Amino acid sequence: MDINQRDSFGSKFGVIAAAAGSAIGLGNIWRFPYILGENGGGAFLLVYLLFVVGIGIPVMLSEFTIGRSAQRNAVGSFIKLAPGKPWYLVGVMGVGAAFMILAFYTVVAGWTLEYVYQSVINGFHGKTQLEIGQMFDHFRETSRPVIWFAIFMLMTLGIVIAGVKNGIEKYTKILMPILLLILIIISIRSITLPGSSQGLKFLFYPDFSKITPKVILEALGQAFFSLSIGMGTLITYGSYIQKKEDLMNTAVSVTMADTLIAVLAGVAIFPAVFAFGIPPAAEEGLVYKTLPVIFQQMPGGYLFSLLFFVLLAVAAVTSTISVLEVIVAYFSEELNMSRKAATWLGTISVGVLGIFASYSGKVFDVLNFTSANILLPVGGLFIVLFIGWYFGRKRTFAEISNEGVLKARLFNVYLFLVRFIAPIAIALVFLNGIGLIKF
Ligand code: PFF
Repeated sequence: MDINQRDSFGSKFGVIAAAAGSAIGLGNIWRFPYILGENGGGAFLLVYLLFVVGIGIPVMLSEFTIGRSAQRNAVGSFIKLAPGKPWYLVGVMGVGAAFMILAFYTVVAGWTLEYVYQSVINGFHGKTQLEIGQMFDHFRETSRPVIWFAIFMLMTLGIVIAGVKNGIEKYTKILMPILLLILIIISIRSITLPGSSQGLKFLFYPDFSKITPKVILEALGQAFFSLSIGMGTLITYGSYIQKKEDLMNTAVSVTMADTLIAVLAGVAIFPAVFAFGIPPAAEEGLVYKTLPVIFQQMPGGYLFSLLFFVLLAVAAVTSTISVLEVIVAYFSEELNMSRKAATWLGTISVGVLGIFASYSGKVFDVLNFTSANILLPVGGLFIVLFIGWYFGRKRTFAEISNEGVLKARLFNVYLFLVRFIAPIAIALVFLNGIGLIKF
């Protein structure tokens, strides 16, 4: 595609909505609660929040800077900004991560469609908490997840083929605020259930004895996953951001929105988990096993259930399109394919991997763990090193300040984080988490 003809996001709110649309998704509502549940609760939350602020925002801003400055995809951006240097491998790793994430993520997105369907036919009605849990387990043993997965991949394909402005931006702008509202309503129901206070305590009271190197790595991986950083998604989206937009402001707004939704998901789920006596470490079924029980205990539960799962599917699709876009932008710009051919090729190859992920819990777990806890942090490490030590202060400031138009008052703090704090922290957490060093 000719660089001058690149599509771009049309408005300030559109940019934030699209990037927040990528960030907010199953990672916040499905993954965050169960990972937090498995990793001890409040202490995990605290570490997670530290990483979001100290590492997440700097990595996100760095990705925006790289993408907008180069106006290319995740691989092409590095080729353009560092010609002849191996930095482009960071982008290649990102495209690889995109395949892996899309494959298992879309499987979970497919589960959401099953739950939309069950909501429509009132399939949870009159079932006990135990039966609702069994419903989820039985469903996963059938072929239905694969069918929903295929449908979800095709939905993603349809939107991505339509392109950035017509497809991606249009859908996210309206639907994300509605999701926020409904999560607030569910949270209120959850914290007013009898016996719910234990859940709030689990979520917000940090028990530091629960912190281990693996818990810390899980928190780092979750922060990367939830913010959509470390694999060039936001390099790709950054390349569609107009030169007049404020990148720093966008990064902070997106991070705040993402974190708010994750914490709210925790508030919606854990009080109910404790009120119903569900073990908080109920793995990847947690959300699907608890929320339908809550809906049954709400006036208007039928409607809330339907609305919630529809919105969850929408939140998921605004994330899957951003992941597919990484692959499509790379194929079309670097391998000279048409956008349409690139989208089909990406979809079909992810489709094959996804079928394995859908049938095999093992494959699913490997893709989930490896992408979030290994590829994204390593990608993020190189992204901050690139900005801090290769791209340099002058060019970075020019991009972030819009050539001196914006004051970018926190620029020095950002540069310090990018040069020292973030790379050192990521490296230590990563090496410690995988057991290569011990401290
Ligand atoms: N951030 C998304 C979520 O939390 O659901 C998932 C995701 C999207 C991860 C895009 C990575 C990515 F590049």
